[in-house]
Amino acid sequence: MSTSYIQVTPIKESKIATVNFEKLDFGVVFSDYMFECDYKDGKWQDPVIKPYGPITLDPSARVFHYGQAVFEGMKAYKDDNDEIFLFRPDENFDRINKSAERLAMPAFDEKFFFDGLTKLLNLDKDWIKKGFGNSLYIRPFVIATQPAISASPASEYKFMIILSPAQSYYGGDVRVLFAEEFSRSASGGIGFAKAAGNYAAQFYPTSLANKEGYQQIIFTDASTHEYLEEAGTMNIFFRVGDKLITTPTNDRILDGITRKSVIQLAEDNGIAVEIRQVSVTEIKEAAKNGELKEIFGSGTAAVINPIIGFSHGGEKFELEKLENSYASLFKEKLMNIQYNKSEDKHGWRVKI
Ligand code: COI
Repeated sequence: MSTSYIQVTPIKESKIATVNFEKLDFGVVFSDYMFECDYKDGKWQDPVIKPYGPITLDPSARVFHYGQAVFEGMKAYKDDNDEIFLFRPDENFDRINKSAERLAMPAFDEKFFFDGLTKLLNLDKDWIKKGFGNSLYIRPFVIATQPAISASPASEYKFMIILSPAQSYYGGDVRVLFAEEFSRSASGGIGFAKAAGNYAAQFYPTSLANKEGYQQIIFTDASTHEYLEEAGTMNIFFRVGDKLITTPTNDRILDGITRKSVIQLAEDNGIAVEIRQVSVTEIKEAAKNGELKEIFGSGTAAVINPIIGFSHGGEKFELEKLENSYASLFKEKLMNIQYNKSEDKHGWRVKI
């Protein structure tokens, strides 16, 4: 596969020596290079790789006014032999185009996506550190760049990929509020899409929750606030007794790649999974009668993150730490696949 058609502007000097890879806050440091491709005259053209840095846009670009923007989250992992792997990258490619379609944006080109990503990762391969928990977070995104502010889809877009070395997303324990008033999305809306605005809409309620000592909100359905949907940065799983329960995906909920992998791993390991609506009432009841064993979130950035407490309607609940939690089982199984340490019977791992 030749990627020579993607022009590379070389960096003058790598920034890598200035980075402390032992202590990384999520998404703050970026690698040396970035990938860029513009959509004009009805087609994606001239993909390039250049030094990571600011881009210039017209102030009237639609992205600034109407939030016409979608993105993805992926990770690259390195094994003990310095081989680089992605995890289910086809799923990310399909999803960014589903998100784009919902926001009336053009689908990105599959060859440009994979060639651009491969070439970029090879240029920045020293930024992928070995060892469980180290990865290079990959952020592909598309923004509407056409300089004109009529409230309609743009005719010009920019697709980019930037890379950020990552460790854990949440540093420390995670407690959540079950939303009583705020919603993340409604039926018929764009909740399933990785649209920038879905995330911006959570900042305010989440900042209120942060002030009360909660790191995240599990958003509930917009019509009744009785059903638990997703945590914005993660899909959510509940372990009641030995059963794993998670809400079905629909047009309000992101079709998480880690989520679907966890469901498959549960089935592979003989753990019963119920994919159905999960009510606030049943989870509070299960917490009161001791049946609620675990809550955890899943996502690319967060991987599998245990939730150790929650609050709703003025009642607070704490979960006991389990020796053999499902969260740690799934995290280990997933990471073993991602870091090329175990068999990959579903063919999820893709070597770069
Ligand atoms: C991811 O897990 O990749 C996400 O996109 C969540 C993001 C808000 C960090």
